[in-house]
Amino acid sequence: MKTSLNYGWHFKEGFSKENIKTPLADYEEVDIPHSVKRLPVNYFDERSYQGIYSYEKYFDAIEGQKRFFLHFDGLMLQADLYLNGNYLGHFISGWVQIEVEITSYIQKKNNRLLVVLDTREDENIPPFGKAVDYLTFGGIYRGVSLLSYPENFIKDVIIEKADKTGLKVSTLLEKEEKVTYSLSDKEGKLLLQTDKNEFTIENLHLWSLEDPYLYTLKVSIPSDERTLKVGFRTIRIDQSGFYLNEKKIKLIGLNRHQNYPFVGPSLPKSAQREDALLIKELGCNIVRTSHYPQSEDFLSCCDEIGLLVLTEVPGWQHVSMEETWRKNFLFFIEEMVKKERNHPSLIAYGVRVDESKDDDELYSKANEIVHQLDCSRVTTGVRNFKDSNCLEDFYSYNDFSCSGLSHGLDDPKTVSGAKGKALLDTENNGHMYPSKMYDPTNRRTEHALRHLRVMNDAYKYDGYLGEIAWCAFDYNTHKDFGSGDHICYHGVMDIYRNKKDCAYAYLSQKDENPLIHVTNIPVSGDQDEANFKPFVVFSNCDEIKLYRNEKFIKTFYPLKKEYPYLKHPPFLVDDFIGETFSEGLNKKDSTVIARALNYVGDVGMAHVEKKKLIKPLFVLMKNHVPLSKVYDWYSKYISCWGEKAVTFKLVGYNKGTEKVTKILEPSVSFDYQVTAFKKELVNEETYDVARVSVLFVDQNHIQQHYAFPSISLETEGPIECLSPDILSLQGGSVSFYVRSHKVEKEEKARLIIHTDLSDKVVEFSVR
Ligand code: GAL
Repeated sequence: MKTSLNYGWHFKEGFSKENIKTPLADYEEVDIPHSVKRLPVNYFDERSYQGIYSYEKYFDAIEGQKRFFLHFDGLMLQADLYLNGNYLGHFISGWVQIEVEITSYIQKKNNRLLVVLDTREDENIPPFGKAVDYLTFGGIYRGVSLLSYPENFIKDVIIEKADKTGLKVSTLLEKEEKVTYSLSDKEGKLLLQTDKNEFTIENLHLWSLEDPYLYTLKVSIPSDERTLKVGFRTIRIDQSGFYLNEKKIKLIGLNRHQNYPFVGPSLPKSAQREDALLIKELGCNIVRTSHYPQSEDFLSCCDEIGLLVLTEVPGWQHVSMEETWRKNFLFFIEEMVKKERNHPSLIAYGVRVDESKDDDELYSKANEIVHQLDCSRVTTGVRNFKDSNCLEDFYSYNDFSCSGLSHGLDDPKTVSGAKGKALLDTENNGHMYPSKMYDPTNRRTEHALRHLRVMNDAYKYDGYLGEIAWCAFDYNTHKDFGSGDHICYHGVMDIYRNKKDCAYAYLSQKDENPLIHVTNIPVSGDQDEANFKPFVVFSNCDEIKLYRNEKFIKTFYPLKKEYPYLKHPPFLVDDFIGETFSEGLNKKDSTVIARALNYVGDVGMAHVEKKKLIKPLFVLMKNHVPLSKVYDWYSKYISCWGEKAVTFKLVGYNKGTEKVTKILEPSVSFDYQVTAFKKELVNEETYDVARVSVLFVDQNHIQQHYAFPSISLETEGPIECLSPDILSLQGGSVSFYVRSHKVEKEEKARLIIHTDLSDKVVEFSVR
């Protein structure tokens, strides 16, 4: 029986020995997940949360039970635990669970648990020892529970096999006894009951990306039972590709760091789940938990929504020769497998320190541990060099060779270490081209295009299982990395989980929901020389018609030649004149002049290649057009200088049917678009959270990327914002998390967002 212990902890910075026996005084009351410090989103000192902290929790034993364990889903980084003044031991957690038996120390009522948490980076524990490009923060940041059992109980249930041939389970008991297994379908209908630990299922409903069907398995002995979700699927990875249920799938995904703004990784289930949903929403089929095992809530959501997972041991480039460090590394390997092996979404374990050098002694042990503990999955290891000795089942390589728009990934044949094995690209882009929400449009556009360029190459090369780009969300990092403000702006979404333009490039690869997204909108003055520059459209339409002030200009088609392997290549709108040019010239001459005007607009007056103007000059001379006239035309058609702003309309078609329209016009009226991820906050094992995002948009609902207004937050009722009360939008958007407080019965709560335009109110219910 599991009793969560997440509410009502006492928390205090520091530790004094007398608190082993005597209660904490002058504490703060907190709930778990908890972060030892609320931090600014950027520009802070990573030493500020590193130290020793005391947490105290009172709880009662569960009557009638015989054996008791404390279970921590994750605390950062290590802790000494005391129960009723007795020392339970020193534990390393970080990203793995701690379970400790307390049967001999527990009393019926009012047990006092003291957690002395050490959040300091420790060079004996991976990833520490050298520089690390991510922050770990500090706190009891995942759930805590009391496990209470009768004399005989189920210690663990391991799904050894769940595929099209059926199920094989192994159950670890305290004392041997007959075990019963019952399997129910999604609707709860009992399908079979047996005392065999291996069986087949009639009319098996397989787990897949489109239909992540989960059965419920109940494992029982007379005195105890466990329930778990099971997905049946067959995974095959070989040089010819990745196969799910024998269907070949190109893996396309994102890396995820687990930190959130202001609170590090300390957010409960709803936030973890939303991250998985966001990655799936973008059309990804895989996520890599770079670079450590992540929350069970995140992984369970991946099971439920059909998002494959490549998990990874904690680490970053550095492998120490110190025995303790190496022991801890292998401890993490073992605990990672034990924590995660029952997730159907999990396809492989990353058993090398990300981007580390070869270390056959260490990595052969790591591989061996995984294969002993999980006979149904394979291993890999992530490198940033091509000729590594591959002890794993397949080779993973971070290919950062994309440094522009002409090349995405290296030919897989050049990754010599992967010879004879399958190859996955586990990182690309990232630091090669960071991009912020408020970057100039061209940079945001190129960021998005580079991701598509890599994706194109992943589809192109059969030799790649796929690619997992760096990365899903911007993340906090050490002072040695990032933009000097403790953030790496490598995300497809920003740290607030708001979509950058790049996210729309991903969305445009999906068939559902007709989309037209323009990053570098043609407005006067945002580009050099105040010209209309060609602009990029991310769309899943097969043709787009452009209108200028309601006049048809031209039909555009996806860039199939440049991105031949993408399902929906981007479009380039590079003609602002089309057939509309008629200044008394004949059709042929008009075309020549229109083309020249578009060309000059694109490259800029100062960069024109003279030879490209010979033909147009000839046309002008032939028609006796003075140069001053040409300047007028240029202003009228290409540069908005001195002209009234233009309205463009893009209409997207699929198979000849109109699907979507986008208006690009000057922004004249504005509003704050507020979205709460959920409005019903439910206190369960712990408090609930909802991300609230605030976008500053114009009359066409287009995010205004140069907007930095401040908003202030006020709450009424049992909720709280896990952020400063005053926030400023960053490039037209920001988000924050609202948490629930405990209530006796359902209550209403209100969030009031004060803005310079009007107040926005979000109503929540809390139960
Ligand atoms: C890789 C590393 C990642 C991240 C990324 C930034 O080398 O594995 O953790 O630092 O670079 O692009």
